[in-house]
Amino acid sequence: MKIAILGANGQLGHDLQPALHSHDVTPLTRNEIDVTNFSRTRDLLLEMCPDLILNTTAYHRVDDCETHPELAYQVNALAVLNLLRVTNDLDAVLIHISTDYVFDGAAKQPYTEDAVPFPLSVYANSKLSGEFLVRALCKKYFLVRTCGLYGRAGSQGKGGNFVETMIAKAKRGESIRVVNDQVVTPTYTVDLAHQIAQVLPLEQYGLYHMTNEGSCTWYEFACAIFQLSEIDAALTPTTSDVYKAPAIRPRYSVLENARLKQLGLNEMRHWREALAAYLKDKAPHR
Ligand SMILES: NC(=O)c1ccc[n+]([C@@H]2O[C@H](COP(=O)([O-])OP(=O)(O)OC[C@H]3O[C@@H](n4cnc5c(N)ncnc54)[C@H](OP(=O)(O)O)[C@@H]3O)[C@@H](O)[C@H]2O)c1
Repeated sequence: MKIAILGANGQLGHDLQPALHSHDVTPLTRNEIDVTNFSRTRDLLLEMCPDLILNTTAYHRVDDCETHPELAYQVNALAVLNLLRVTNDLDAVLIHISTDYVFDGAAKQPYTEDAVPFPLSVYANSKLSGEFLVRALCKKYFLVRTCGLYGRAGSQGKGGNFVETMIAKAKRGESIRVVNDQVVTPTYTVDLAHQIAQVLPLEQYGLYHMTNEGSCTWYEFACAIFQLSEIDAALTPTTSDVYKAPAIRPRYSVLENARLKQLGLNEMRHWREALAAYLKDKAPHR
């Protein structure tokens, strides 16, 4: 398959390239295609004529989205509309990545693909708008919701990822406070990329939840990072009310990989095992 990866410098975009090595992959960074330049994006993709367009781009500085809603909707919804139109015109397949933040967090058990979204922030609303456009208008798509991504490329848009931020703070001797009332499933982008590569040849289109298994609070995740890295850190738990981020986050956004499990395709390991693998994979570069 001829595959165009948009957002190729990002955490997921980076790890998708080796995962899809058996295909003819063209990695495209923002320099090559800025998805908010709709006509240029369309022209370049039509010229390239891929069988599959894999969109990992997003404006996902969650707090900044509250003050920049135009940009959030431009990247997370309108650019997606442009991409799905090109996809349809090429009779290609679109893979688009969405987020656990489409849910409000009122649930007490993992959200399946059948659960009804109720987004709480501008970011979450803009991502859900992108989802609706794909589901309403795209002929052949995989819509993948995931959670708490970290990868070796570090998140460019967010400037590092949670794991690296924690390690850097500890090494600087800072006292670290992390919220202990938001339950998530941290997900290693190598695992997500591998899972996407397993699913895409099967033509079982539609909505998928894809995260590592298990769940934890961000505080528990930080504890595991320091434990596995053997770093002494001045870490204490806090609450969302005390932390007071501008955007509201769901208190519980654990996703069930229900569709993958129904199809016998779930290859996601437990988040703790994935974290250990990440720390080992990046070890030579430390
Ligand atoms: N990170 C998470 O915790 C998380 C959780 C759930 C869902 N997701 C979703 O997962 C996807 C991938 O996330 P990620 O962590 O891999 O993000 P990332 O590391 O920030 O990568 C996103 C990439 O998109 C590029 N990009 C942003 N705006 C662009 C534009 N206008 N035109 C072209 N490229 C643009 C960025 O380029 P630059 O390098 O130039 O900025 C970056 O390389 C996103 O859709 C995100 O919403 C992420």
